[in-house]
Amino acid sequence: MIFGAILAGGVGSRMNIESMPKQYLPLNEKPVFIHTLEKFLLCSEFDAVFIGTHGDWVEYTKDAVAQYGFGETPVHVVQGGADRNGTILEIIKAIEERYGESDEHVIVTHDSVRPFVKVSTIKANIEAAQKFGACDTVIPATDTIVESLDGELISSIPLRSNMYQGQTPQSFKVKTLKDLYASLTDAERAELTDACKILVLKGKPVHLVLGDVTNIKLTTIMDYKTAQAMIECGVDE
Ligand code: CTP
Repeated sequence: MIFGAILAGGVGSRMNIESMPKQYLPLNEKPVFIHTLEKFLLCSEFDAVFIGTHGDWVEYTKDAVAQYGFGETPVHVVQGGADRNGTILEIIKAIEERYGESDEHVIVTHDSVRPFVKVSTIKANIEAAQKFGACDTVIPATDTIVESLDGELISSIPLRSNMYQGQTPQSFKVKTLKDLYASLTDAERAELTDACKILVLKGKPVHLVLGDVTNIKLTTIMDYKTAQAMIECGVDE
């Protein structure tokens, strides 16, 4: 079976808006995460879509999903974890409780705060995860990437043509992700910035899916204003 996993368990501290986490801010009169959910529900491949939220926002999220009323695909709201990977693991737990365990289950994980993801990117993720077991959505780096190990001096400047910026979705065979995460040491877990790194740390292949520059993540207030301007310009149509 194929599952969507919309990650909405963060508090959006860098957005600096106290009233609500950024995934609930209005964008064209709908909460940001509803735009994201709509994109997932346009993919008929999904057997169900899960949303992992912060504990304080579970009921609010359920109400919002009910208010916008979606079609046939079941949408389940569950409480997320302490960090992003924790939210993915909580969603996996909920998937297995409801739908059982299977070596063939695929999960498409996506930041709730990337509402401009293209349906074609989600579909490409499903295909790549089924075929290769794991994939990450990326775009070629346009800026030169500079590495500094001490924050003062340049350590290296990797060849730009080898560099990509990671986006989401990131998609996996559920069992692979779960088993590899369980095999990590505490030190390895502390190093994780995203779910693909779980596989990379264990030397497992992660295939690239080409994303799109419009698939921005809303992190700061500047991104929120950019998203509002993108809507006004019809980028989402
Ligand atoms: N996320 C999650 N569960 C967590 C933390 C983050 O599902 N415990 C989700 C966020 O809701 C967001 C995505 O992961 O959709 C990307 O994370 P980020 O942009 O860092 O979101 P926040 O953690 O909310 O932001 P900040 O770091 O500014 O607090």
